[in-house]
Amino acid sequence: MKTFQWIVDKGVDNLGTCPQISQAAHFLQQNEVVAFPTETVYGLGANAKSDEAVQKIYEAKGRPSDNPLIVHIASKDQLEEIVADIPKQAQQLMDAFWPGPLTIIFYKKDGVLSEKVTAGLNTVAVRMPDHPVALSLIRCAGLPIAAPSANRSGKPSPTTAKHVWNDLNGRIAGLIDGGETGVGVESTVVDCTGSVVQILRPGGITKEQLEEVVGKVEVDPTLKTGMGTPKSPGMKYAHYAPDAPLFLLDGDREWIQQWIHDKRNEGLKVGVLTTEEHVADYKADVVLACGQREDLATVAASLYDTLRTFDESGVDMIVSEVFPTEGVGLAIMNRLLKAASYQYLKQEE
Ligand code: TXA
Ligand code: MG
Repeated sequence: MKTFQWIVDKGVDNLGTCPQISQAAHFLQQNEVVAFPTETVYGLGANAKSDEAVQKIYEAKGRPSDNPLIVHIASKDQLEEIVADIPKQAQQLMDAFWPGPLTIIFYKKDGVLSEKVTAGLNTVAVRMPDHPVALSLIRCAGLPIAAPSANRSGKPSPTTAKHVWNDLNGRIAGLIDGGETGVGVESTVVDCTGSVVQILRPGGITKEQLEEVVGKVEVDPTLKTGMGTPKSPGMKYAHYAPDAPLFLLDGDREWIQQWIHDKRNEGLKVGVLTTEEHVADYKADVVLACGQREDLATVAASLYDTLRTFDESGVDMIVSEVFPTEGVGLAIMNRLLKAASYQYLKQEE
């Protein structure tokens, strides 16, 4: 399949009438899949009402079909069309954070969306992305758009059009290049169907931000250890993984350097994931600065690109520093733990 590419400047005002967006929207109406930028990561979109269209997402990504998709909308009217009811806490969170990197789980209305979107569940995940290209595309198509991250299943999510191209060229009908995404990690997924809001996947909106709006918020306890069955089906899969095995090292820099030294003595090519503050401190085969530790949002923004850069560098193993789990650090550590298959080593006191 030939993959069409459209380049769009997200800064222009009349996006809704630009030919690139109209063509891409037409592809969606024809039940083809199109990758597009959001404020978190690139998404792989298809008509959420069509089995045929949604099936193409699973095929292009190589995604297990028991892992449901997020439905992207551009207006509150579209929400009423697909959900059975809107709980009070969900309404408060929507008012505070939509459009934005927050996905909310609702009971679904029957018979509206393809069953393949929800993978047989009676709930549906919905979000309104805060990105002019995504919003214009959804409005122009006039459809709810099912969209997972636009990577091959298991790979780090794409934060540039080039990442999408590398993974999916020839497997999808089109790709809108709207530049780099902003947040860099996926949306926070929350379940508002119970009495206490629960985070099923940490992401761009932090636990602290949610608590300011709805009070107490819980985090799905299985996320910390990788053990047990997470409530969000996708969280059980190995994910975000670079090609080389990744180890998270929780200790001081001297201890980490000694560890690297020992591995290099065994003849291994070692990569190090650190931040701008410490990049000069390590001696290894490849040392990459992933944002600034002082500002965790910059670490989130660079994380997936850094993991993909290690793939291109041909290292045999990667060691990464760990990050505090406050704010967006919770999402960063969740993704790093999954990318590392929970290989976490702590320095002895
Ligand atoms: O930022 C994002 O959320 C990106 C952009 C493209 O919007 N999308 C994204 O989609 O990350 P995906 O498919 O990679 O992740 C969706 C997550 C999965 O962990 C899935 O299991 C969960 O949401 N999910 C979807 N529907 C659900 C439901 N009804 N109940 C619980 N979890 C659900
Ligand atoms: Mg994903």
